[in-house]
Amino acid sequence: YYLGRRMFIVISEPDMIKQVLVENFSSFTNRMATGLECKPVADSILFLRDKRWEEVRSVLTSAFSPEKLNEMTPLISQACDLLLAHLKRYAESGDAFDIQRCYNCYSTDVVASVAFGTRVDSQKAPEDPFVQHCRRFFASSIPKPLLVLILSFPSIMVPLARILPNKKRDELNSFFNKLIRNVIALRDQQAAEERRRDFLQMVLDARHSAASVGVESFDIVTQVFSHECSANPSEKHQPRHPSKPLTMDEVVGQAFLFLIAGYEIVTNTLSFATYLLATNPDCQERLLREVDQFNEKNMAPEYCSLQEGLPYLDMVIAETLRMYPPAFRFTREAAQDCELLGQRIPAGTVVEMAVGALHHDPEHWPRPEAFDPERFTAEAQRCRRPFTYLPFGAGPRSCLGVRLGLLEVKLTLLHLLSKFRFEVCPETQVPLQLESKSALSPKNGVYIKVVSR
Ligand code: HEM
Repeated sequence: YYLGRRMFIVISEPDMIKQVLVENFSSFTNRMATGLECKPVADSILFLRDKRWEEVRSVLTSAFSPEKLNEMTPLISQACDLLLAHLKRYAESGDAFDIQRCYNCYSTDVVASVAFGTRVDSQKAPEDPFVQHCRRFFASSIPKPLLVLILSFPSIMVPLARILPNKKRDELNSFFNKLIRNVIALRDQQAAEERRRDFLQMVLDARHSAASVGVESFDIVTQVFSHECSANPSEKHQPRHPSKPLTMDEVVGQAFLFLIAGYEIVTNTLSFATYLLATNPDCQERLLREVDQFNEKNMAPEYCSLQEGLPYLDMVIAETLRMYPPAFRFTREAAQDCELLGQRIPAGTVVEMAVGALHHDPEHWPRPEAFDPERFTAEAQRCRRPFTYLPFGAGPRSCLGVRLGLLEVKLTLLHLLSKFRFEVCPETQVPLQLESKSALSPKNGVYIKVVSR
């Protein structure tokens, strides 16, 4: 289809997807950009292009290593304690409620803590400036008709939109910018061992790092799904020449990344998993048994024990992401004229991977509408055709936060299911209505009951 003069091609053929994401990567390095992203969002790795993207990805890869994530695990557990306390009240009252709202608050707390170095309790203190600004950040998307206009006539609309005054945007950016700069100034005054071990600190540590890695180590998604636990890419590959250090604007941009890349997707994954467990009580029972066994063996969950000790939880999450992939489509832009399986693709074309369609194709997934975690046993995964399951994308530009995203979802479900079970109630919407504004999400929340165990 066309938007103005720009051609979009939607593909769901696995071999063609492989060519775009992996084999022809040098022609398809970038996602589609509207040209409208402004600082600090534009400085986040999601929107960087070509050489600078490669340099920044290379530096950031170390901030997402299993060792670093292990250091962040207690911060996530801390935020989870607040969530547990809020859910306890619902369990005691026996009332039905929208758990998506609770997950929204929880994700805000995690982002504040892990990315912005600030502690908040958004459920209890919704008036906190951080919480307010996050809400406004998500409510401030570009109206659809304007977006179509921008994509159709970028040469006129982009410069226009950039210079038009936008008080709300400027105020939001300045709030987050100031917040991060203040935290960084404070860290500079602290001794190394006093500094909080959060993502912001990992990025600050990595910014001058010589231990950056080359493009051949970028595909973390493949490493994760081949079940490497302690593999640190920077240990496996020869470090490259250090790239240009991250500027202060770029550090701020990476903290923003959490808001735009992680927040909504993690919230939605948790909501979908909760809905599926409540509506599939047999699967939930089996999972509860696994959780109890895990807790008997492990006092405090660590990154590595979480990777190995909860195989059924892995299967439940994988099947949740198959049925409801929050990033249900993503794009690459053709940098030059090229050919894909005999089809000519002109330079500038945007190729869109139709992940939602792929995950519901009965040729790859028999009875695609059924929730069946057995599709993800090790054996079933070995037999599956490659490039038919893409919740995190694939290739060198695939999700950089896959380990962190899975860690957050697993750790949260582990904590919740240790204390509660999910139950459907008359208010539960079955089947779940969906909405696909930015990420795929439940349209009307997820109403359930929680019962103490
Ligand atoms: C369940 C959770 C998550 C899912 C399903 C998910 C999914 C995705 C998908 C589909 C993409 C596009 C991949 C492509 O273009 O091939 C992506 C990119 C990305 N994600 Fe995630 N994501 C998750 C969590 C996170 C988290 C928590 C972070 C960390 C902040 C994160 C950081 C990123 C980054 C940085 C990119 C862009 C990488 C680049 O351009 O080099 N993601 N993610």
